[in-house]
Order: sequence, then C-alpha cells, then structure tokens
Amino acid sequence: MVAHYDVIVIGAGAAGLMCAATAGYRGRKVLVIDHANKPGKKILMSGGGRCNFTNLNSTPANFLSDNPHFCISALKRYTPQHFLELVERHGIEHEEKAAGQLFCQNSAKDILNLLLTECEWASAEIRMNTQVRDIVATADGYRLGTGSGTVHCDSLVIACGGLSIPTMGATGLGYDIARQFGLSVLPTRAGLVPFTVHPELKEQLAPLSGVSCPVDVSCNNEHFREPMLVTHRGLSGPAMLQISSFWEPGDSLAINLLPGCSVLEDLVALRKRKPQSTVAHYLAQHLPRRFAAALNDLHGWTGPLQGYKNSDIEQVANTLSHWDIKPAGTEGYRTAEVTLGGVDTRQLSSKTMAVLEQPNLYFIGEVVDVTGHLGGHNFQWAWASGVAAGNDA
Ligand code: FDA
Repeated sequence: MVAHYDVIVIGAGAAGLMCAATAGYRGRKVLVIDHANKPGKKILMSGGGRCNFTNLNSTPANFLSDNPHFCISALKRYTPQHFLELVERHGIEHEEKAAGQLFCQNSAKDILNLLLTECEWASAEIRMNTQVRDIVATADGYRLGTGSGTVHCDSLVIACGGLSIPTMGATGLGYDIARQFGLSVLPTRAGLVPFTVHPELKEQLAPLSGVSCPVDVSCNNEHFREPMLVTHRGLSGPAMLQISSFWEPGDSLAINLLPGCSVLEDLVALRKRKPQSTVAHYLAQHLPRRFAAALNDLHGWTGPLQGYKNSDIEQVANTLSHWDIKPAGTEGYRTAEVTLGGVDTRQLSSKTMAVLEQPNLYFIGEVVDVTGHLGGHNFQWAWASGVAAGNDA
C-alpha cells in the first residue's frame, strides 16, 4: 500500500522544516524527505557556527530577484519579529552583532533544535537518507518514488535549496523538478562568495593574508561599506561577499580603502604641516600596518611629502579611494553562501508560494529566485516563504 500524506516537503533545511511545522500545526499529516544523513546542515555551519538567524532591519530592498516585488508579501506577513518571538519562546540566548543582525549566543544548534522541536510538536515526520527517484502528478496530488518506498501526497513542497556547498548536500533537484513541470528556471550563479585574483595580484597580496580593514566597495551601481579580508586566494570579508552578488565576470571592483577620509585634503595639509612626513606615515594611521606598508611598496610612494607635487598627491588620493581590481573570478559554489537565480517567481503566488499553473505544488527558500544580502536576510526569506507555503499546503 502506498503511504499517503497531506503534505510532502522535499528538503529538511531551513525553509522545509519551517514549512513542515507550520503545515503540521494546521492538522496536516506532513512528511519531510531529505537525501542527507542529517537535517539542517547549513544551519549548523551558518554564521560561523552561531547562525545569523534574522536581521531586524530586513526589508525587500535587501533581496535580489528578477521580480523584485515578489518577496514583499511573504516578508510582510512573517517578519523578523515573528521569528525572534519564536526564538525567545524556546529560550534561546541571542545577541545583536552588527546593526540588526541577530546571532545565537551559544550555537547554531539551538536554531536547528528549535525547528526539530517545532516539527515534533506539530507531528511532522522527518525521513533522512532518502533519495527522491521520480515524481508523478496524479489526479489528486503527487506520487513520489523514493529510496524508502512510494509515497503519495495532496500537496508537494520543494525546499531543496540551491547549488551552494555541494559537500553539505546541495543538488540541482529543485530546478529539475521545476523544469519537469514546465517552469522556467533563471540562470543560477554563486552569490555571497569570495573573489579570486590573477596570479600577479595574488602574489602581491600573499603576504597580507589575514589582514582586514573597512572599505567601501562598488560595482554595477551598488556599494557596500564593510570590512574586507585579504585571503591566500584573493579577497573576502563582508564587503567582498556582499558585492559578489552584483558582480559579473569581467567587471572591475572600485575599492575605497579609506572611506570616510578626505585623503587629498589630508595629504595637502600634512605636507604643509610636516613636510618631512611620508605617505607611509599617513597610511599607517588609517590602515593595518602590514597593509599600509604593502600598498606603499606596491605603488612606490617613497620620500617626504615635500617632494610631492599637487598632481602626485592627487594621484595617491585617487589610488587610495579608487583601487581598481579586476577579479579573476569567484570561489564558486564550493564556498558560496547562496545561489542567485532559480525558479522564476513570476510563475508562483507571492502569497502562498504555490505554482500558479500546477495545482498544489510549491517552491520555497533558496531554490526560488530570491536572494538576500549578507546579514540574516537569507534565513528570514527561508522562514517567511516556509510559513507562507505551510499555511496553504
Ligand atoms: P537549505 O540548503 O538549507 O536546505 C536544502 C535541503 O534540501 C538540504 O537539507 C539538502 O540536503 C536537501 N536536498 C538537496 N538536494 C536534495 C535531493 N536531491 N534530495 C533530497 N533532499 C535534497 N544565511 C543567513 O541568513 N544567515 C547566516 O548566518 C548564513 N550563513 C551561511 C553560511 C554558510 C557557510 C552557507 C553555505 C550559507 C549561509 N547562509 C546564511 C545561507 C542560508 O544557509 C541559506 O539561505 C538557507 O539555508 C536556505 O534554506 P533552504 O531551506 O532553502 O535550503
């Protein structure tokens, strides 16, 4: 006999577990299927192991999508405050790091336990180590052939996530299912991902590996003022992760290494006040010492400022506020936090995440073409879209 469920959710990640608990509390008989050996692996590795579970300042402007208005409805109906209330009901200690970014004080495990507890209380069944072999639409729902037998459901929710970090269980199954039902999938690419650089710059940056400083980076009319980290492979840190979602191969990044400083005026004043002072002295006041020295060597800014003409100072100021870098690429899905693109939202109801032309089929979370900025927005989308589908499926 084929086991029947009201709702089957494919994917025991953030969005899938949230959806399962929400549907379960409505009295629906829910099964969650996942091929991985453990649920919520990405939750556990998120936020450096402490899960940046939401952002109190999250607004639709923090999301990228080909259809930017799509996310508004779900985000409005399930807000960061709603998730925070849930976190507090479970007694999870948390702290606000950067403005609005809420992290667990102890461990990301607290958030996963919250979701698993909610699923248990809502009587949602979770079946791990289970491959989905095929899906067939029937007259009254969907029949799934799985590694642990055939199951049938009224409503099917796809919460398989994107392609980022394949070693954590990411596959393209969600996109394949979308295509099977005739939906269009927008091109995908890695987002919130470190940059790699060409060999020459890599060599120059190598001694600076581990150095971090606040910068203002811009590309394609977007800019972020956050810390940049030099790594042994290239450039990372929040500023670079954020801008990577807006970067296309071949684009340059303009990096202001001294945001908030009026370098030109500062250097002119310094030359007048202390003619023997050097660019290196100035840089050392504003940048980590190793970084200041390397920049100075790179550009050959030697000798006292009194030997610098106005045009020389202008050039120094311009280089510091407009350090142009053409990345070789990104580290790709291997380390990307998210996948940009995905199931085209024009085919979904923004209220319920249901496919408009295919009854009782839903897509939620990262598999959908909605991608947040760094800082807790992606989990907020997982919670909001999960609740939207869980309330309807
Ligand atoms: P998610 O990837 O969580 O879950 C998908 C599930 O589907 C997985 O359990 C997977 O095993 C399963 N699955 C995939 N293919 C399958 C198949 N073929 N068959 C069966 N099951 C399948 N966001 C944020 O807001 N704050 C943060 O701090 C971080 N930090 C962070 C760190 C790192 C290292 C990464 C990689 C990502 C983050 N993120 C983040 C992003 C966040 O993790 C991501 O947006 C959500 O996990 C997306 O939730 P989903 O449920 O959509 O996918």
